[in-house]
Amino acid sequence: MNSAYLLDWAGLLLRWLHVIVGIAWIGASFYFVWLDNHLRKPMAEDLRAKGVDGELWAVHGGGFYNPQKYMVAPPNLPEHLHWFYWESYWTWISGFALFVTLYLFNADSYLIDRRVLDWSAPAAISAALGFLAAGWLVYDQICRRLGHNADGSIGHDGRVLGLIGVFIAAATWLACQLFAGRAAFLLIGAMMATMMSANVLFWIIPGQKQVIADMRAGRPVNPVFGQRGKQRSVHNTYFTLPVLVAMLSNHYGMLYSHAQNWLLLIVLMTVGVLVRSYFVKRHKGVNAWGLLLAAFVLLAGLIIGTAPRSTPPSAAVNGSAAPSMAEVQAVVAQRCVVCHNAELAQKGVQLHSAELIEKNAQALYQQAVLQKTMPLNNATGITEEERALLGRWYAAQQVKPH
Ligand code: HEC
Repeated sequence: MNSAYLLDWAGLLLRWLHVIVGIAWIGASFYFVWLDNHLRKPMAEDLRAKGVDGELWAVHGGGFYNPQKYMVAPPNLPEHLHWFYWESYWTWISGFALFVTLYLFNADSYLIDRRVLDWSAPAAISAALGFLAAGWLVYDQICRRLGHNADGSIGHDGRVLGLIGVFIAAATWLACQLFAGRAAFLLIGAMMATMMSANVLFWIIPGQKQVIADMRAGRPVNPVFGQRGKQRSVHNTYFTLPVLVAMLSNHYGMLYSHAQNWLLLIVLMTVGVLVRSYFVKRHKGVNAWGLLLAAFVLLAGLIIGTAPRSTPPSAAVNGSAAPSMAEVQAVVAQRCVVCHNAELAQKGVQLHSAELIEKNAQALYQQAVLQKTMPLNNATGITEEERALLGRWYAAQQVKPH
């Protein structure tokens, strides 16, 4: 078994795990944000007397649920307390492993695009890891310096959120000046996801542990721990949709191969924040349609503004006949076959014979003509004329009766 084959399997299994634990984490997180925003002041005297601050009645899965929230803590802590953090940690662990398998093992092909920046694999790998660490350090400093008052209580959050937005936009621009577009998009998603998991690891969970330790020891509970946890938890809510779109959009060449790919990603992530904000407000009973409208306008602008301008190649340009298979094969042999042959077949695609080219015509057209994602980072230096030739050949195939 060769290593490319094993890496493909590792990629599939890690991706599967990553999506499962990611659903568990974000699903629970969405649920708790929703729950928090739907709690009502309890009517029953006994609940108020117990210190219950909000409650909810819901029906699900054949039963009735009645969650109750105690603001700081209940007077007596129960023996068994469920903690939510492994979902977050496993999402990070599986995501990081996936990043290593896909991008760091193949740094020369996936992380580095020599048209963007010509540097060595060790340098690019260190920079990518540095991005994840620096992202957290800068973000954490923004929250500490602006978000915490001198007495430790939590300060005005609007400024903090604004600055975090500016920081992420700047990081997006920088990543796109350093790495292959696809890797840059993923890295920005991973950087924000690292902030999210680190928020859980360094602030949310330790704060809750401190509260519990104080309660068990009979010390007064400082509300600042809850406030800090809440601050980070709110940030995580707004990171969710941008993180997901950054990770998914790296599968779309039309986005990451664009000359202003950084701007496209910033717009998409902004759409994510607007949509999430709309839902958070909606849970609170406020219908902020303006947010949804703004998201829609941005998205429409993006789709229209980045639409490919060139018309699809027609079979006969300037009266010239459609290219022959011999011409097509000459281009493919020179530009594609090194990575798509009988021994090495990236993504299972082989292009070393006329039949194989015919069989893969659609994918070839998609990757080499429309999206221009192939040859990978244009490693073999295909020219625009050659792409056009492949496009004319493909168009002629479509009109030819089969
Ligand atoms: C330097 C190596 C290299 C060269 C040269 C190259 N490819 Fe690829 N190709 C790859 C890799 C790696 C992948 C897998 C990409 C991925 O993981 O999405 C791939 C994937 C593909 C796919 C499948 C895409 C998908 O997502 O299903 C097609 C089709 C393809 N290449 C066509 C071409 C064509 C056509 C050419 C020549 C114009 C070409 N490739 C040149 C490395 C290369």
